[in-house]
Amino acid sequence: MSSNSFGKIFTVTTFGESHGPAIGCVIDGCPPGLPIEESEFRADLDRRATGKSRHTSQRREADEVEILSGVYEGRTTGTPIALLIRNTDQRSKDYGDIVSTFRPGHADYSYWQKYGIRDPRGGGRSSARETTMRVAAAVIAKKWLAERYGVRVRGYLAQLGGIAPQGFDWDAVEQNPFFWPHAAQVPELEKTMDALRKSGDSVGARVNVVAEGVPPGWGEPIYGKLDGDLAAAMMSINAVKGVEIGDGFAAVAQRGSEHRDEMSPAGFASNHAGGILGGISTGQAVTASIALKPTSSILIPGHSVNLAGEPVEVVTKGRHDPCVGIRATPIAEAMMALVLMDHALRHRAQCGDVGEVSPRLA
Ligand SMILES: Cc1cc2nc3c(=O)[nH]c(=O)nc-3n(C[C@H](O)[C@H](O)[C@H](O)COP(=O)(O)O)c2cc1C
Repeated sequence: MSSNSFGKIFTVTTFGESHGPAIGCVIDGCPPGLPIEESEFRADLDRRATGKSRHTSQRREADEVEILSGVYEGRTTGTPIALLIRNTDQRSKDYGDIVSTFRPGHADYSYWQKYGIRDPRGGGRSSARETTMRVAAAVIAKKWLAERYGVRVRGYLAQLGGIAPQGFDWDAVEQNPFFWPHAAQVPELEKTMDALRKSGDSVGARVNVVAEGVPPGWGEPIYGKLDGDLAAAMMSINAVKGVEIGDGFAAVAQRGSEHRDEMSPAGFASNHAGGILGGISTGQAVTASIALKPTSSILIPGHSVNLAGEPVEVVTKGRHDPCVGIRATPIAEAMMALVLMDHALRHRAQCGDVGEVSPRLA
């Protein structure tokens, strides 16, 4: 009912607020025997963290994961895994002004209408701080998927405002603070972000995610479609306003002769479908692309109302991401991994006896 859990077999429930004492998650349904230790969460949490460059929010959280349950002598036991991260860098006084006003474009107004009460400190539950726990849970999913099936999930920033990559190299992605796939454009991105920050405004972005090594057969028809679950998972990320699978909206202008992915004994000739047909994986790379809106908390004054319904001018202070898309890459990877993990287990539960069916295209 309250929708803080997702997944049918690999079920993740998150809890906590941006400026509360801690955030955490409970992962139920993880297969037993997977080796995991606290230090393994470091790399992905650092990739998502704020304060790593001048181009993201300057909040500095330690993001130390504590494993509270479900792991014994370094291996998952099959019982619920509880992960906890204590918040250490809250600065709630920055949010004094939004206690009685609503930021245009943020969730203040809709949360207020729904619950009649809200935790305004740092945006409370609507803050992307919550996504830390999705990234943490996905560390386990990514590891299991890689070890069991050789699945690799990677993402990159595919557009920042009006700037698109002019080249592509996976190796470049982890070498710059933007997750940008073309190193030569990084100075241009830095200049753009510096100018944006000075202007007090924000900008939107696109993030692409690719999962390689996904075997054919994952996903279910009709209401459990892999693409349907992926779309919901991606859309659940804060600030996401659009999701594409494969060619997505470009399919509108395509012909059938162009879009269909023809097959030969050598494999598929293309991947317009994004690795999913009929809601079920084909064995090709599963691809998703998301559109993130520009950050609503900006220094440029905007019209709003206060709790009394009176007109006010809102200027949002505090530490904010001028482009939320920059830090969204590891979050989008996490959502892809969590959905794939759940579907891997669902497929194994129903169709584990089917085995490999021929022909199997490469
Ligand atoms: C990585 C990430 C960081 C974000 N940081 C901020 C931020 O600093 N300030 C802000 O106003 N919104 C930020 N957001 C977006 C808000 O959380 C989001 O716009 C808000 O919860 C309203 O939800 P909606 O945009 O999905 O409708 C961020 C989103 C992501 C994915």
